[in-house]
Amino acid sequence: MELLSTKVISNEFLGAGFFLLEVENLWGESISPGQFFQIRVSKSFSPFLSRPFSVFFADATSLWFLIKVVGIGTELLSEKKRGDQVSLLGPLGKGFPELPNPTLAAGGSGLGPIYFYAKKVGNFKRFLWGLKSRPPEGLVDLLKELNVSVITEDGSEGKKGLITDFINEQEDRIIYACGPLPMLRNLKNFKTSDVWVSIETVMACGMGLCFGCSVKKSYGLGYFRACKDGPVFNLKDIEI
Ligand SMILES: Cc1cc2nc3c(=O)[nH]c(=O)nc-3n(C[C@H](O)[C@H](O)[C@H](O)COP(=O)(O)OP(=O)(O)OC[C@H]3O[C@@H](n4cnc5c(N)ncnc54)[C@H](O)[C@@H]3O)c2cc1C
Ligand code: FES
Repeated sequence: MELLSTKVISNEFLGAGFFLLEVENLWGESISPGQFFQIRVSKSFSPFLSRPFSVFFADATSLWFLIKVVGIGTELLSEKKRGDQVSLLGPLGKGFPELPNPTLAAGGSGLGPIYFYAKKVGNFKRFLWGLKSRPPEGLVDLLKELNVSVITEDGSEGKKGLITDFINEQEDRIIYACGPLPMLRNLKNFKTSDVWVSIETVMACGMGLCFGCSVKKSYGLGYFRACKDGPVFNLKDIEI
C-alpha cells in the first residue's frame, strides 16, 4: 500500500452518470480484483476525506476506475483532465478468492470489481449485470467480449427484472457480487450457494484505523472493518 501522486491519462464520460478515469499505474500489476484505492478528489481540504473506488482494470501502465457521479467527490473527479495530478492510496483491502467457476453478479456501479475479476482471472460460469434502466452504450460495448447478460428493472435493455430473479441456487453454486445493499441482502436467500460480496460502505481512513467502515459480524460479538478485513466478505460472515 502506497500513497502516490499520479497523472490522469484520460477521463471519458460514458453517459448515465458514469465515467471511466484512467491514471498512470505506479503500483504495479499485483492488484487483486476487489481491492480498492482511496482517491483524493481535491487538493484543498474540501471535501476532507478521500473517496474509495474499486479497480475496474489494471495493466502495466494504467489503472482504470469506473465511477458513477453521486455527490461532490465523484463530481470533482469527473472534471479531472488529462495531465492533472491526483493522489491515490492503495491497493487496499482484500479481493475475491479464486474459486472455480463463480457466477459473477454486478449491480449498477458495482460493476468495477466484478469486471476486473472477469478480465484478470476469467474462469467464470456466467456474468450478469443488473441496472434500473438502459446502461450507456460505451459500457455495453466494453462488456460484449465477456458475454455479459444485461438485466434492467424497466426492461429497456436485455432481460426485464431484478438481477436476483436470474440467479439459480442449483446452478450458481459460487456467486461473486457487488452492488447496492438491497441486492446483496437478497442474495442471503440463496442459502446453499457460497456467496462472496464486495461491500461499498462509507469509509474514512481506508486503512483500518478509525472503524468508520464497521460491518457487524454475523457470529459472536464485534465488527469487521470493511477497508481492512474486506471489502470482500463471505455473505455468511456479515450482517448487512
Ligand atoms: C470499497 C469501495 C469501493 C467502491 N467502488 C466504487 C466504484 O468502483 N465505482 C463507484 O462509482 N463507486 C464506488 N464506491 C462508492 C463510492 O466510494 C461513493 O459513491 C463515493 O465515495 C461517493 O462520494 P461523493 O463525494 O460523490 O458522494 P457524497 O457527497 O459523499 O454522498 C452523496 C451520496 O452518495 C452516497 N454515498 C456516499 N458514499 C457511498 C458509498 N460508499 N456507497 C454508496 N453510496 C454512497 C451518500 O449517502 C449520499 O447519498 C465504492 C465504495 C467502497 C467502499
Ligand atoms: S475506514 Fe477507517 S477503519 Fe475502515
